Amino acid sequence: MSVAPMELDGGFQMDTANYQWLCATVEQSIGVRLQNKENLVHNRLSRRARQLGLRSLGEYRAYVEGAGDEGLREVLDILTTNVTSFFRENGHFERLAEVLADFDKPKLRIWSSACSSGEEPYSIAMTVRAALPRVDERDVKILATDINTEVLAHAEEGIYNSDRVSGLSKEVLSTNFLHGRGAKEGLVAVRPEVRALVTFRRLNLIEAWPFRGPFDVIFCRNVVIYFDKPTQTELFRRMANLLAPGGLLFIGHSEIVSGCDDLLKAEGNTTYRRVR
Ligand SMILES: C[S@@+](CC[C@H](N)C(=O)[O-])C[C@H]1O[C@@H](n2cnc3c(N)ncnc32)[C@H](O)[C@@H]1O
Repeated sequence: MSVAPMELDGGFQMDTANYQWLCATVEQSIGVRLQNKENLVHNRLSRRARQLGLRSLGEYRAYVEGAGDEGLREVLDILTTNVTSFFRENGHFERLAEVLADFDKPKLRIWSSACSSGEEPYSIAMTVRAALPRVDERDVKILATDINTEVLAHAEEGIYNSDRVSGLSKEVLSTNFLHGRGAKEGLVAVRPEVRALVTFRRLNLIEAWPFRGPFDVIFCRNVVIYFDKPTQTELFRRMANLLAPGGLLFIGHSEIVSGCDDLLKAEGNTTYRRVR
């Protein structure tokens, strides 16, 4: 086995053979491709390796393999990219509000399929509360899923630094957040009535899903960029099949749906409607 060292700064040594093992392990587990991301991987793993007193990827691999499922979970938590924000790509929330204003079914089901630390599903919940007529008389559920256990724990808590909400309007802030005082100064908490609409679960998008839908709206934003094309197409087809007829799929602004023309019709660049 080749142990050619890689040209990277710092004390944590990575070599080609163990890097290939890492790429294969992560891609097989969750579809995320780490090829050509050596610097990012080095930065993230070297921090953890230092805590563990390990000096190389080979040593870290031995630690991960020795820890079984927990070891794999740790690798996935460290290596997934969780960047998100409240009302990110706001056009989707404006479109959602328009759709909800005319929504006449008693039951509304929405899935935020790569929810990271919760900003996306809470933005959905805030939009639902503002836009859906008679919201408290309807059966509304927002399912929020992600593979990363650390961000899910944060999401469930629903507490954020106030700089995370500094761009939101006064009205959105007062309707949807509690503002910390004293020891909690500088923190905001999502109000209980908003949180109550959202259920968080750990879910791997490339494995079987323990539900059958249908969903009225699915958000699948800024996650498929990490997958290869066939995995993207398969995922979008599975999601399209879970949408109610006329249901909407929102994707990230740098993403595109292909191979689903029989199921989905584009409405603008990043919104698709289930056609049959
Ligand atoms: C960049 S964040 C996007 C968050 C949010 N959707 C947004 O657009 O702001 C991507 C998320 O996808 C999650 N992820 C990556 N691979 C996944 C998989 N196979 N199954 C479920 N979640 C995954 C990551 O943990 C991460 O939280």
